[in-house]
Amino acid sequence: MRFDILTLFPNMFSSPFQESILGKAIEKELIHIRTINIRDFTLDKHQVVDDTPYGGGQGMVMKVEPIARAIESVKSQNPSAWTVYLTPQGKQLNQELALNLSSRSHLILLCGRYEGVDERVRELFVDEEISIGDYVLTGGELAAMVIIDAVSRLLPGVLGSDQSATDDSFFNSLLEYPQYTRPFDFRGSCVPEVLLSGNHSAISLWRRREALKRTLVRRPDLLAKANLSNEDKKLLEEILKENSIDDCGLRNSD
Ligand code: 6GU
Repeated sequence: MRFDILTLFPNMFSSPFQESILGKAIEKELIHIRTINIRDFTLDKHQVVDDTPYGGGQGMVMKVEPIARAIESVKSQNPSAWTVYLTPQGKQLNQELALNLSSRSHLILLCGRYEGVDERVRELFVDEEISIGDYVLTGGELAAMVIIDAVSRLLPGVLGSDQSATDDSFFNSLLEYPQYTRPFDFRGSCVPEVLLSGNHSAISLWRRREALKRTLVRRPDLLAKANLSNEDKKLLEEILKENSIDDCGLRNSD
């Protein structure tokens, strides 16, 4: 899969993809990431990429022509590249949208700065607008990194077989159960005994129960959408009856 990032700040992308899983995915040529400096597509001496808004008002607007030329130069190599504009006005990223994007072979990720881009960029060049959440960033660059990470790890071969993406939180609409490793006793806080029992069905049952409990406490909205078996429903009833729901590690007065 190819990612072409259109940005005014290509240096922001120099290190995040060199490490760990994505670094290996690049090495193995499972993903290709290129940054393209929008400023390189200006034609004037001063390489102007922004201008004041028509009608007046605060800030600067990114000009349409350099962005148009940058997108067209990528599209001339691959007309089927899918153009995503990163903006807080876009559709909010979730696992389903990441999965959807992972089916494309070539994404153009357009990062805006200032007060955004000239509306004609959206009208003429953008296929999809995506936000990464309800908060405001200084630009789309960090959002582009988030998308590349979330999408890449879904591609065949990027995660090891021991890190299957199908176990993920959200993949089956439940949060994950708590995990422990050595030592057994850390400052008096001990690992649940069942995990040391060697009884695999008891361990599975405990994990399913903890996943249900954690989802119930933290994300009841996910539980409502989840595909629950009769066994799950019984476990949930028990959990509710027990009336012993702690905060599952969540320190929040809500
Ligand atoms: Cl995609 N861009 C900006 N500037 N802020 C955001 C965002 C994107 N997603 C959430 N906040």
